[in-house]
Amino acid sequence: MDNITNLLAKEKTTKQNRVWVRISAACNNLCVFCLDSDAQDGRLIAQDIVEKEIRDWFKPWYENRVIISGWEASINPKFPQYIAYAKELWYDRVQTVTNGNMFASEKFCTKVFDAGLEEVTFSFHGHTSSLHDYLVSTPWAFKKSLRGLIYIKKYYPEVIINIDIVVNKVNVDFLPDIVKFFMKLWVYEYDILQIIPFWRGFKEHKNTLFYTISEHKDALTETWKLSRVPGMYMWTNRFHVEAFEWFEDLIQDPRKIKSEVLWESKEMFAPFIESNGEVKPECFWERCEYCFLEQYCHGFLNNLKTRKLETSSKDYILEGEYFPSDVFIKYWKSAEDFKSSLKKIKENYKKIINLPKCLWWSGEYTSYNDSNTNQSLEEYTDVYIRDLYRKKSLRCWECTYNDSCEWIHLNFIRSYGFSLLEPIQKKIER
Ligand SMILES: C[S@@+](CC[C@H](N)C(=O)[O-])C[C@H]1O[C@@H](n2cnc3c(N)ncnc32)[C@H](O)[C@@H]1O
Ligand code: SF4
Ligand code: SF4
Repeated sequence: MDNITNLLAKEKTTKQNRVWVRISAACNNLCVFCLDSDAQDGRLIAQDIVEKEIRDWFKPWYENRVIISGWEASINPKFPQYIAYAKELWYDRVQTVTNGNMFASEKFCTKVFDAGLEEVTFSFHGHTSSLHDYLVSTPWAFKKSLRGLIYIKKYYPEVIINIDIVVNKVNVDFLPDIVKFFMKLWVYEYDILQIIPFWRGFKEHKNTLFYTISEHKDALTETWKLSRVPGMYMWTNRFHVEAFEWFEDLIQDPRKIKSEVLWESKEMFAPFIESNGEVKPECFWERCEYCFLEQYCHGFLNNLKTRKLETSSKDYILEGEYFPSDVFIKYWKSAEDFKSSLKKIKENYKKIINLPKCLWWSGEYTSYNDSNTNQSLEEYTDVYIRDLYRKKSLRCWECTYNDSCEWIHLNFIRSYGFSLLEPIQKKIER
């Protein structure tokens, strides 16, 4: 699959109705990085709540997928019952994300697959017992989950299996080996998750687990190269986008931010936005440099200080786009086509706003203040995703305008690659 086909295929998948339902606040592992560790109180979520969520979030005219999750869903005795309930309601796909321990039991497998479970995402963080068991702080975890994975492959070949890997300082250099290990077991779908700085992982293991991407670029690039193996499906999650030069189709869909700020942690972000930044998120400051939401939070605060940009009808405002397919419809499929379109626009307008200087100016940008008077979390998030989610290449550090530049909307980079941006001192100024 070429990069553009890959990108458009991913876009189609993200247009599904994906429903996440938690059925337990407990877990049988103790992962050192667990983002949910502080919220685990050992409860199983009440049946009426679980069933209501499964029912209410179903959208009849969509392709519907329910992801029954945990903390660890498989330890809830009603897990098979909820799978069957979702199938009765005509969900197209029932999936779980699991640490995999329970799947070592054949009896358990029979129950859940008979109930209708169709996709299992195993979390594996290593390719050896020593690496994986250390990270999940549970002896025999690797052997148990691996047994489950192989059993499913052998006796339930129709079940889709994929793997989540949380990337951290301990396993990052082994990442290509981890993926290759599971490819040998015929697993060809991976979600590579950058560690996020919440709870136990950050509080207790900051120095052991958190790393800088630039220091481990080789291992990451080696891993991204595996995404080019025919039949491979690789997704990435919460990485800083600069990690993907030449592999831009692997950059996560910007709309994914919605599930973090409007769903997962709404109670933290709503007061932040609605108080104009007065009430800071509890994770503010120390964790931000490790967090993929850095631009979302700090950009909001900086935008509040920005003066409104005055524009006229003689200015062309380059709007962000929600999907790469929208970018292609407007500006066609290659970077050269995009640049030709910009040249034509430039003939008819005085300035192009929201475009860096290396791409024919103006180096002037609209900000959140320009479109907004009444801030709600939903509104800011939407404007951020569509217009303000601008990024640059690592090479931009060499550019004369690096400090003042606000770069280009991420979906242009996802569509045409970072090579679109050409640091100024390297070429003759136009
Ligand atoms: C919280 S877990 C719940 C499901 C199940 N217990 C598991 O571990 O697969 C959901 C996903 O988040 C991942 N995860 C846990 N802690 C994380 C962190 N600090 N950063 C990024 N992903 C994390 C897990 O590996 C898993 O893929
Ligand atoms: S298995 Fe999942 S829920 Fe359990 S500790 Fe690990 S990441 Fe957290
Ligand atoms: S960038 Fe935002 S979400 Fe991330 S750690 Fe900082 S305040 Fe928290």
